[in-house]
Amino acid sequence: MSVRCVIGVQWGDEGKGKIVDLLAADSDVVVRYQGGGNAGHTVVVGRQKFVLHLIPSGILHGRTCIVGNGVVVEPEQLFAEIADLESKGAKVAGHLFISERANLVFPYHKAVDRAAEAKRGDAKIGTTGRGIGPCYADKFSRTGIRVVDLFDRELFESRLRANVEEKNGILAMLGGEPVEFEKIRRDYAEYAKRLKPMVADTIAMVNDAIESKKRVLFEAAQGSLLDIDFGTYPYVTSSNSDATGISSGAGVPPGCVEQVIGVAKAYTTRVGSGPFPTELDDDLGNRIREIGSEYGATTGRPRRCGWFDLVGCRHAIRTSGVTALAITKLDVLDQLDTIRVCTAYKAGSRAVKTFPADLRTLEEAKPVYRDLPGWKKPTTEARKLADLPAAARAYLRELEKELGVKVTMVSVGPERQQTVLTDGKL
Ligand code: GDP
Ligand code: IMO
Ligand code: MG
Repeated sequence: MSVRCVIGVQWGDEGKGKIVDLLAADSDVVVRYQGGGNAGHTVVVGRQKFVLHLIPSGILHGRTCIVGNGVVVEPEQLFAEIADLESKGAKVAGHLFISERANLVFPYHKAVDRAAEAKRGDAKIGTTGRGIGPCYADKFSRTGIRVVDLFDRELFESRLRANVEEKNGILAMLGGEPVEFEKIRRDYAEYAKRLKPMVADTIAMVNDAIESKKRVLFEAAQGSLLDIDFGTYPYVTSSNSDATGISSGAGVPPGCVEQVIGVAKAYTTRVGSGPFPTELDDDLGNRIREIGSEYGATTGRPRRCGWFDLVGCRHAIRTSGVTALAITKLDVLDQLDTIRVCTAYKAGSRAVKTFPADLRTLEEAKPVYRDLPGWKKPTTEARKLADLPAAARAYLRELEKELGVKVTMVSVGPERQQTVLTDGKL
């Protein structure tokens, strides 16, 4: 398969970074197409841990890495990430290309994000505070500033002046601190110089790669249930974070992706607010958080933990046409006596089989569980299918059967080698 993508089929943090890093070994080009610094993709290589926010996880294999037009780019964060990668020996220069059409994140986006969240009080979304929502709002209001605009001084300054004025008005209303035009102008003039060598017509680059049969891998951020259209709106992010975003976020034809790899944890986590029917708000949930080190890679916030939700996952599989599943963090369940999967929801006396749009239904939904026996054996040393305990394989087969998609990869630890390829024969 020459064109593939990796998406999360839960609420983010499924382990996409690890899976992309593995698949990047036999890819030529790796492309991010949405989201921004809200993402935190962890790749562990030996003793080194990398957390990537804006740069595709293919960078550690020295692949051509593209930040597509659908990504929102905060230059300061990008340069910090490049510096961190280079200090750990990774080569970035000549490998990383940023779309001239990508919208830029400015300090006022972060300030508005944070002030709006503070104002919402208990109704807060629980955003990452990286300015993602306000930046995409400007993009769609047609007041955003794109990478290419950095190189037209007059246009840049007039747009920036108008935006600073508008955002300072909003910040005053929200009780936030104003931002200063001159400081931003100076900082971004400096960023423009540093960005210049990386800026490219990435639409041509990606399409040329596809047409010449290079192996292209699209890397999603967030998860399908955080998608602006298909997720738990308004408790979502501000982009199409499933496979539906690829065409608009990278400028490629719909239908060019031959394989859609959906990544799911062997259980479920969510960080931030919003409904989570299978959440374990108890000691077991805390135990899973500690065993799985479920703390955000971007914000350090504790992640909410719960059982595998087949209803949400089926919804994600449908909207993106998932063709293969990678199940991660199986090892986290190693010590449990019983493992539950949610096969449907009940809302009052009504059975709910498809993922509801109505949040009230989702909040009131009671999961219907099927219990499966735990395997009570360590799996972290498993490298081939035969190394996995029979009950672990039965659990994975149950997911496969219920979801109608083959599990092709199983991850049993954060490191590259802690992976079992199933060949679709669980
Ligand atoms: P992403 O945002 O989808 O790339 O996922 P994150 O990096 O935010 O969170 C996944 C976390 O789980 C990271 O700390 C990974 O190093 C870790 N991880 C990935 N796969 C496994 C696994 O199979 N087992 C364990 N124990 N940890 C894993
Ligand atoms: P990766 O790519 C998990 C969540 C936030 C919040 C909501 C909106 O690492 O899987 P935003 O800052 O995007 O406006 O926040 O989305 N969120 C994520 N949760 N993983 C992520 O990225 C996330 N990116 C955003 O916690 O609930
Ligand atoms: Mg993450």
